[in-house]
Amino acid sequence: MDRHRSRSPTSSSHHHYSPNRRGGDNRRRNHCDGAQFRPSNHHLHQSSATPRQTPPRSQTLSTRREAYERDFPLYKQPVEVGCFSLDSRRRFFNDSRQMRYYVEPERSPNFDLRDGYKERYVKRDENVKEKLDHILRWIIANRSKLTSKLTTNASCPLDFDFVTWRGHLTKLLTTPYETREGWLLAVTRFNGTLYISEVETEAARRERENRPERNKEMMYWGYKFEQYMCADDTNSEPDPSGVVNTNEAFCTVVQTRLTDHKLLFSGEVDCRDRDPGAPPPPACYVELKTSAEICTPKQRSNFHRFKLLKWWAQSFLPGVPRVVAGFRDHDGTVVSVETFQISKISQLIKNEYNCWKPTVCMNFCCDFLSFVKREATEDNPSVVYLFSWEPHNDVTYSVHRDSRYSFLPDWYIKEMTRSPE
Ligand code: A3P
Ligand code: MG
Repeated sequence: MDRHRSRSPTSSSHHHYSPNRRGGDNRRRNHCDGAQFRPSNHHLHQSSATPRQTPPRSQTLSTRREAYERDFPLYKQPVEVGCFSLDSRRRFFNDSRQMRYYVEPERSPNFDLRDGYKERYVKRDENVKEKLDHILRWIIANRSKLTSKLTTNASCPLDFDFVTWRGHLTKLLTTPYETREGWLLAVTRFNGTLYISEVETEAARRERENRPERNKEMMYWGYKFEQYMCADDTNSEPDPSGVVNTNEAFCTVVQTRLTDHKLLFSGEVDCRDRDPGAPPPPACYVELKTSAEICTPKQRSNFHRFKLLKWWAQSFLPGVPRVVAGFRDHDGTVVSVETFQISKISQLIKNEYNCWKPTVCMNFCCDFLSFVKREATEDNPSVVYLFSWEPHNDVTYSVHRDSRYSFLPDWYIKEMTRSPE
């Protein structure tokens, strides 16, 4: 694979984006034990200064779409640097034992997604907050191939600006278009790398704890669809009589660069092409999705506006080229299956009035990362910069020292402070 290819949403042209609001000072803030809230009195994308004056440095970030309508930023072709697996008891393995293989179904397969919900479903415990732990475990297991070869000091830094889950980046990409759910992202700078870990919002926790039974069952449908579509080995067939256990996962770890931000992130991958001649990861990976069948023009429009945005963002980030979607009826029967090429989604939505744009998603993410780099300056594993966003507002942040938000475990700090053998 060409490690230096840059990507546009269609992966067909190269754009170079020159950052214009970078730099800023690296002035240390006054931290205190409690939270320090930053008032939203400035607007990063408004010029509030008189000519020849340096604009005041904003401590908030706008999420208005118009502020991010510029050329597509440089996004390097993501390269898989490793993978890991989580077994039926959520134990970590530094290998691909949970990889599954895509088996092409009939066009109208009539899969019954309700089957097994009561009797053959083991659900992951959502009260357990794993934070970045699995990724950190993977980093320790693969440290020698990640540390900068230029440095020889005891605490050998990682050669990345950011370490996070793909899912957190997906949330950032969709933020300029999100009108319902806010987010909280905890950031810690440690040995020069910024670690980003999500904190569940109160609203999300309430919603999770009060999920209606119908929604709980529909969550199962997505996993059941995966079981109908995937085999455990290249030569075997899917086994819909088995148990659906959502503890199990295969995760890819990719490295890439968004303008001047070097990223290392991991994301769950549903399955891969089982043809041994398929391209290497991540190009052989397949994302599986379910969605309500589309019967009216309004439903089609909503599918383009909301579903395809989420699907595009999730797969574009790690370079997964296709989504295979099962369209289900009200009773949970898959009535049709369709493949969407990620590189063609921006064409597909072109005719929707006032629709989402990949460039806005990527530019917002890029500017958010610049904002984090500029504000989260204290290199200290027990300091958390908590970035917070609610729809129709700017991004703000507060600083927390030795608080419940600290998320880098002692075993990781200890291991990364030790000099490598
Ligand atoms: P669908 O994708 O068919 O909706 P993923 O697609 O990311 O691999 O996730 C697999 C399944 O997990 C989803 O299937 C859905 O059933 C469930 N799921 C994931 N995120 C969810 C969320 N935020 N809310 C509800 N269900 C979710
Ligand atoms: Mg999926």
